[in-house]
Amino acid sequence: MERTCYNAELSKENVGQNVSLVGWVSKKRDLGAFKFIDLRDRSGIVQLFIPEGLEIPDVRNEYVIGVKGTVRAKEVANKNLKTGEIEVVVSSLEVFSKAKTTPLIIADDTDALEDVRLKYRYLDLRRPIMQSYLKKRAKIVKAAHEYFDENGFIEVETPCLILSTPEGARDYIVPSRVNKGSFYALPQSPQLFKQLLMIGGMERYYQIARCFRDEDLRQDRQPEFTQIDLEMSFLDQDQILTIMEGYLKKIFKEVVNEDIVTPLRRLDYSIAVDKYGSDKPDTRFELYLNEVTSILNKADFEAYKSANTIKALVIPGKASETSRKVIDNLTMEAKKYGLGGLGVLKYLNGTLEGSIAKFLNEEIVKELVNALSLKDNDLVLIGAGMHDKVCFALGALRNRYANELGLIKPNTYDLLWVVNFPLFEKKDDGSYAALHHPFTRPTPETQEYLFTDPSKVLSAAYDIVINGYEAGGGSLRIYNEDQQKQVFNILGFTEEDIKNKFGYFVNALDYGTPPHGGIAFGLERLSMILCGTDNIRDVIAFPKNLRAVCPMSNAPQRVDEAQLDDLGIMLKE
Ligand code: AMO
Repeated sequence: MERTCYNAELSKENVGQNVSLVGWVSKKRDLGAFKFIDLRDRSGIVQLFIPEGLEIPDVRNEYVIGVKGTVRAKEVANKNLKTGEIEVVVSSLEVFSKAKTTPLIIADDTDALEDVRLKYRYLDLRRPIMQSYLKKRAKIVKAAHEYFDENGFIEVETPCLILSTPEGARDYIVPSRVNKGSFYALPQSPQLFKQLLMIGGMERYYQIARCFRDEDLRQDRQPEFTQIDLEMSFLDQDQILTIMEGYLKKIFKEVVNEDIVTPLRRLDYSIAVDKYGSDKPDTRFELYLNEVTSILNKADFEAYKSANTIKALVIPGKASETSRKVIDNLTMEAKKYGLGGLGVLKYLNGTLEGSIAKFLNEEIVKELVNALSLKDNDLVLIGAGMHDKVCFALGALRNRYANELGLIKPNTYDLLWVVNFPLFEKKDDGSYAALHHPFTRPTPETQEYLFTDPSKVLSAAYDIVINGYEAGGGSLRIYNEDQQKQVFNILGFTEEDIKNKFGYFVNALDYGTPPHGGIAFGLERLSMILCGTDNIRDVIAFPKNLRAVCPMSNAPQRVDEAQLDDLGIMLKE
């Protein structure tokens, strides 16, 4: 039978027409003489009416059927259905395939555990909301093809079996059978290849690229994810950001009908960290970190006397209801970020109460109340220690309270660029790591510090932050072999390392490298934001769970001894 249209395309306009429809039985109601069936396809649901006397095969939920019938207007419209004004009077019904009782209900509202949803993902995907997520994701990809093609970008695929490129995570590695004892890495991103494409004269490249990172998973992180990856030659930072803003404008308009005003705001990394306690600040709500170092350095408390930074976060109206247990929770959260503890004060009836109140004399209390403009019943959270740890710990608490206090209006979007990052971060052991990746170009104003004090070098890097998510990041790149080697040196790579890990790349820099730069958007992060979900797995058809397992196929699994023999691999106990 040939379907004449999708279910949800039917409306009053079609009354009187004969139609053939297909889909899944979503619901069945047997009213004795006649029956109703809700028929679902990917467009939506239409009600079928089985008239008295029509012989049809037995159908149950999720059976796949085809029907022929005539559209008629309903006496009383069903306002909950897009097709609620009509129904289809069935003249014949064919069952294509039967279905067992499904382990989860196929409806937007589900109380099924996520592992059950992932185990039966093909059923979960029948839920209209999941289909709407995947449709939005597809729109974002389609818009990328359209926009970047229109702007002169050439789509190029880069390999998945590669020599490791460091992006800061662990590699997934793949053993080579032909070259026993040798391993490929799966790309953490196409970073070096896209730079080599610039050296190869492509000038503007893009790719919808699969990336693989063996890192601890979170609500916005998967081991296997997709980047909208771009690289451009002969453009400066402003030109690159302008092109990217054009793409963001397009997807916000086409996917959620939102007009984004460009150019987007640019926020210095140092301000983002100081004020919001995050390198990806959610600036949709007004809760800021306050500097109180000079006030609390005077407190009679060892941890404060010597602290390099002390900051306070004021949570309005929360003092009296905050229990010991909640304080313990907050303290635990702060400790996760490397703080020794969390100072908690409650401003009640004109006095400051709490664990650290006894260390504060009258003058300090007065200064603190003034500096923080405290109002009755305010809760004050205080972090002390090294600058970045204090900021990031309080930043995490800031986000937590934004949700709890309902400070964020739903369906609002806040986009900004974070710029002027440090090129390196200094680790606790005094060594340096790249804050973005080792190919990021220092700013001209700070590059001289490469030779004197690397912690002062800023990078020509930019992250696009949307609603507190890092939705993408990129930079201008080093295009000179000596500078690249200097950065590798600071990162602690020996000559031998450089030769083995990046020899091919460093050599290439020596053959005429255009100034270039680029960016990668996280496709799943963009999709999450535009779908309004905070779970990355919602926008991936077949994701892994938080233990990096696919509950449907049970990957990863052990392999046969014979396969290991082929690869020359023996497993350790
Ligand atoms: P970066 O590592 O910042 O940069 O990655 C770019 C964007 O990819 C997304 N992303 C992820 N999404 C889901 N799961 C993950 N595990 C994950 N890791 C990253 C984020 C992030 O902003 N080669 C550089 C880009 C460049 O410099 O051009 C890179 O990969 O949205």
